[in-house]
Amino acid sequence: MATSTVRQSPAARRGTRPFEDSFRFLPDNTRRVYDMLSPIYPVSTMLFHSNAHKVALSLAGVTDGMRVLEVATGSGEMFSRLVRSNPNGATCGIDISPNMAARTQRVARNRIPGVKAHCQASDSRQMPFRDGSFDAVVCCYLLELLGAEDIVRTLEEMRRVLRPNGKLALVLTGQQDPAFNVWHKFIAGIAPAFLGRLMETRIPELMDACEFELEHDQQLRQTWYPSRVVVARR
Ligand SMILES: C[S@@+](CC[C@H](N)C(=O)[O-])C[C@H]1O[C@@H](n2cnc3c(N)ncnc32)[C@H](O)[C@@H]1O
Repeated sequence: MATSTVRQSPAARRGTRPFEDSFRFLPDNTRRVYDMLSPIYPVSTMLFHSNAHKVALSLAGVTDGMRVLEVATGSGEMFSRLVRSNPNGATCGIDISPNMAARTQRVARNRIPGVKAHCQASDSRQMPFRDGSFDAVVCCYLLELLGAEDIVRTLEEMRRVLRPNGKLALVLTGQQDPAFNVWHKFIAGIAPAFLGRLMETRIPELMDACEFELEHDQQLRQTWYPSRVVVARR
């Protein structure tokens, strides 16, 4: 008699419960907001995120010839860095906003012609890639926008598409400055789909529950904006 086995995710095997919070991810709102922001978003990257991108790139160990995925590319500044570091490999990206994904691909192909770079509109909670497709996965400033259960689903998807021993580099908005935290809460109350909420302190525990091995953890600031870079191995 044929038997069927149900494959459990690492978090489910460990009985992990996502942390309690009331934040809900509303994909349609997020898509609408980021579609609208795509032409001006590079300014925010330049002012607040580019230093953390550089740190994540060096810690992720991306070298030429790799298969690399960026999840939630935004307007594509980090994606272009990844493509430049990997001209003979393959670099893929996804973003839930079709405008962001299209811009990311256009900018990378214009700046670095002839490379294998592809970015598509897709959701981090269900990625259109086979198991073990990538040597490295990079994701910057996405998890703040997701509900607690969506974060676990996204981490599990990242683990699924990484090859064994592949690297995951996450960049999160930092929580180390109480004044920044107050400012963030205020603005996020007005524009939740844009800023989400702060939750970086919960992430290492969830990564561990999803069976990632933490390798680096670094905090930095740029124009007052705090970031945290966490790198782990599958
Ligand atoms: C704060 S921006 C960060 C962009 C870029 N990673 C950076 O470092 O500047 C968040 C991005 O995540 C995308 N996003 C939000 N939810 C997503 C999801 N579930 N799957 C894929 N992308 C998502 C948004 O469209 C937006 O482009």
